[in-house]
Amino acid sequence: MTSDKSFRTVIEPFIIKSVEPLRLTTRGERKKYLQEAHYNLFKIKAQHVLIDLLTDSGTGAMSTEQWAALMRGDESYAGSPSFQRFENSVKDVFGFKYVIPTHQGRAAERILFSTMCKKGDIVPNNTHFDTTRANVEYRGAMAVDLVVEEGKDPQKIYPFKGNMDVRQLRSLIEKEGAEKVPLCMLTITNNSGGGQPVSMENIKEVKKVLEEYNIPLYFDAARFAENAYFIKLREGGYQDISVKDIVREMMSYADGCTMSAKKDGLANIGGFICTNDSALAQQEKDLLILTEGYPTYGGLAGRDLEAIAVGLQEVLEEDYLRYRLAEAKYLGERLIEIGYPIVQPPGGHAVYLDAKTLLPHIPQSQYPGQALSVELYLAGGIRTVEIGSVMFGKVNPKTKEETPAAMELVRLALPRRTHTQSHIDYVLEVAKDVYNNREKIKGMKITAQPQFLRHFTAKFDQA
Ligand code: F0G
Repeated sequence: MTSDKSFRTVIEPFIIKSVEPLRLTTRGERKKYLQEAHYNLFKIKAQHVLIDLLTDSGTGAMSTEQWAALMRGDESYAGSPSFQRFENSVKDVFGFKYVIPTHQGRAAERILFSTMCKKGDIVPNNTHFDTTRANVEYRGAMAVDLVVEEGKDPQKIYPFKGNMDVRQLRSLIEKEGAEKVPLCMLTITNNSGGGQPVSMENIKEVKKVLEEYNIPLYFDAARFAENAYFIKLREGGYQDISVKDIVREMMSYADGCTMSAKKDGLANIGGFICTNDSALAQQEKDLLILTEGYPTYGGLAGRDLEAIAVGLQEVLEEDYLRYRLAEAKYLGERLIEIGYPIVQPPGGHAVYLDAKTLLPHIPQSQYPGQALSVELYLAGGIRTVEIGSVMFGKVNPKTKEETPAAMELVRLALPRRTHTQSHIDYVLEVAKDVYNNREKIKGMKITAQPQFLRHFTAKFDQA
């Protein structure tokens, strides 16, 4: 008998019980849809997308156990048993004392920064996700990114490119004064930096510095399980420790967290805040009642709380995590074989193409990332998202001059438990076709844009 260990194929650790049909479109149809959407992929109808890699947020498939739990959802306004199951599950996984549900991650961020920050404060993070940054800035505080140098070089291979530069953290606190830093955050994994993990060693070092100055540490924990599995695979001493124990150790160094349950909660909606500080928890609950709902539902239905309670346990299953990281690795490695420059190594939830390097004939002023993203849709109905100058370019309100973003990336985010390997193979075939015709791809220009978060609604045309 051969032992199981000799089989190297990582399979999807589930079968398909309910299906949602995909409809193929022709290139001619997609050309028309693109024109109607003014080349903004956010404006394309989902039924006109074949493989939707726009985001991994709330787009995953739920398990049979989650669907079963939904039926147990108790919709009592106060004191619902669904909340108790949710709270028990969050406490079991995260280990914090107080758990406050919110409708999604950004609501948790708004409440956290509203209670902890004031005008003029400074919040360090490895890299703020865009809603996190916006919520810090909305309070009049300053969001500072302190990711390590390795994390800024797309081609550099390094196991923990999400780490924070501890030396820079210390000098920031020394320079500005600890009283101006109400909290420090670590985004695990670091989405804006390519879905890259943070090591346990780095978490401990960050905590050590913060302790000296009495500054609390909070995690943006959206992809905490993926981060823990990277630690198990890449950090010495963790190979034989369960992911659940790694998560508990990570959390033991923090004072609380914000969470988008639309990622590693394996749910379609939801989020929460955790803290060990009772006074803060009370303030947060008071604010929650004002805009989200009573603290035993926080803007969610009882059934949503049930789905999250189950999802948080399932996400720790190592068969699932092995498959999850293998999917991104499979896609990333084959894109490299085709010739694509990508952010290396592939992250946990997505692969990021480096459009600036791929399309040197398109200047940054003509948005190479947007051009590539549009081409992937036109060629094969694949929806991705530009993370470059459309999203992060800064327009001077007076001169209208634009400073481009540091990188021009296109993110292929992988919804959880949603696509099969043949879907990914199809994406690769389309990507190869686009690669072979890359010299013909034309740049884009913006013809209309709002003042804020322009990527969602801007109109484009070919330059
Ligand atoms: N933090 C991180 C690291 C995120 O990736 C996101 C969402 C949020 C916070 C906000 O959570 O959407 O539940 O309000 N990221 C999605 C994405 C939108 O596509 O990467 P939310």
